[in-house]
Amino acid sequence: MDFTVGSATAAVAGSFDATPDPRLREVMQMLTQHLHDFVREAAPTIGEWNTAIEFLTEVGRSCSDTRQEFILLSDVLGVSMLVETINGQEGGTESTVLGPFHMTESPRRELGDSVDLIGGTRVCVVSGTVRSTSGEPLAGASVDVWQCTEDGFYDVQQPERQPAGNGRGLFRTDPEGRFWFRTVVPSHYPIPTDGPVGRLLAATDRHPYRPAHVHFIASAQGHEEVTTHAFVAGSAYIDSDAVFAVKKNLMVEFVETTDPDIAAEYGVEAPFVHAEFDIVLQERS
Ligand SMILES: [Fe+2]
Repeated sequence: MDFTVGSATAAVAGSFDATPDPRLREVMQMLTQHLHDFVREAAPTIGEWNTAIEFLTEVGRSCSDTRQEFILLSDVLGVSMLVETINGQEGGTESTVLGPFHMTESPRRELGDSVDLIGGTRVCVVSGTVRSTSGEPLAGASVDVWQCTEDGFYDVQQPERQPAGNGRGLFRTDPEGRFWFRTVVPSHYPIPTDGPVGRLLAATDRHPYRPAHVHFIASAQGHEEVTTHAFVAGSAYIDSDAVFAVKKNLMVEFVETTDPDIAAEYGVEAPFVHAEFDIVLQERS
């Protein structure tokens, strides 16, 4: 049969009929259907289609060991958040985007250690407890954290100014399921704008900023892993995150604390900033 606008979809979808993996077959046929519908509706010119191919090629070329432009593209199109939300845990801490900066192995650190290796100005303690949805504290849970500096840059963005691992730490909860570490209050920051995704935002008059946050991946035996953020309540751009990742349950007050006894408990001097972020993991069924 001739390939026509009308017959194209059945021909291409049918070409996947013999795919042995049923899920791959289902996804490829669904992709064919939606992609063809999109192309029929948008009706791009040859020039526009070439521009799209060049854009995706450039997104790929922009990726390296320390940069993930495809994740960024997925993020700004809201796809990352859709996938996270579809796969969210019931009753557990809500998930949000991984983002493009979790690319180095976080250095293993002891509870109470600082992830700030460059001496920021506002000392901050982040503490919390990892629990199961049943309420039971989870001892030995893994808590992987990463964040930007007070100036809004991740270590991988400033290899000449920040040692690798700055702002990152991999912690294990104590027998009561608790974790705590020292850091600085992160800043809001722009996602990288010097690549094709940045140019897309500029061309569509969208700002590139994300509200201030600390990233977490928490996991424990017998429980579902969660990838999430603690957002700094009241941060700039909290209502217009460029990657749509804010959820109100993930907003955390970063509180100026003057009590010297609480400061001593965490091995810091008052005043300091304290943020409490408890994490709940769903039991694996
Ligand atoms: Fe981030």
